[in-house]
Amino acid sequence: MPQKIIIDTDPGVDDAMAIFFALRSPELDVIGLTTIFGNVETELATTNALRLLEQAGRTDIPVANGADNPLTGPFGGPVPFVHGDDGQGNTNFPPPTTRPIDQTAAQFIVEQVMAAPGEITLVPIGPLTNIALALRLEPRIAENVKAVVLMGGNALVPGNATPAAEANIHNDPEAADVVFGADWDVTMVGLDVTHKVNMTPAHLDRYAASGDPLARIIAQIVPFYRAYFERSFPGAQGIYVHDSSAIAYLIDPALFTVERWPVRVETQGFSRGKTWPTLPSGNSGVLPPWQNRPLVNVCVAVDAARLLALELGRLT
Ligand code: RIB
Ligand code: CA
Repeated sequence: MPQKIIIDTDPGVDDAMAIFFALRSPELDVIGLTTIFGNVETELATTNALRLLEQAGRTDIPVANGADNPLTGPFGGPVPFVHGDDGQGNTNFPPPTTRPIDQTAAQFIVEQVMAAPGEITLVPIGPLTNIALALRLEPRIAENVKAVVLMGGNALVPGNATPAAEANIHNDPEAADVVFGADWDVTMVGLDVTHKVNMTPAHLDRYAASGDPLARIIAQIVPFYRAYFERSFPGAQGIYVHDSSAIAYLIDPALFTVERWPVRVETQGFSRGKTWPTLPSGNSGVLPPWQNRPLVNVCVAVDAARLLALELGRLT
């Protein structure tokens, strides 16, 4: 039986790649997309999510519109220099003809999880606001989801939004601290692994050469995103694989080495958004900020070659 998943997303070029990767994977049954601000404003995230499903011929999958702002304070703003003004590499594809459902993202998540106890995995690949709101709406989802597998955070490596913090967590640290603190099975697929997965120009060429229409779309949206990486990371060629790494974890968790640590999120000062695990050595696990916190599966190493082969094999 394929795993039922809800992808909570801020598309975003790498979100688009992850959604197509999931849709092309028989191990996964995408039962809904929920949208969130991050790479773009939430309204544009919803537009893009609907269009991606149209492009994939999967308008049977519902899209629920998510929160416009973090739990506390206003959204810090989109990143058009990374994903383009349209969030899809300035490809300016036509608007979708479909509409989101009437439920909010949080309502949709609660309804789906409570209707299928133990069956649904939440896959947030943007800021964690909708997930925290769903927990607030119905705390019993914690015991009724199968798992949460999220792209975000940085345990033992620097951030990307700031020297301290990864972008998804930085966009709503309070929500992230709620999600890491709830009593459910959370896996953090963060920069510790995604910055080790480099999709090279040769890999990317395979999308353009592929006969799969979704691969051809990826070939169109990626160049703007790739140019950002190559300008921003000295010596980089191609892109880092962020959101698709969470999809790869769902399909084959053995690709990853995982440590189980409690995680707190810094909500103050210039380190706002930093995810702090307890260290493997020392006794910080018993200190108050981490006391009585659940263990999170933190991905710390990855077989990048096998992950890339898995993702590319699905679309090229
Ligand atoms: O830090 C990488 C994450 O931030 C990815 O989810 C990317 O899409 C952006 O949202
Ligand atoms: Ca994302």
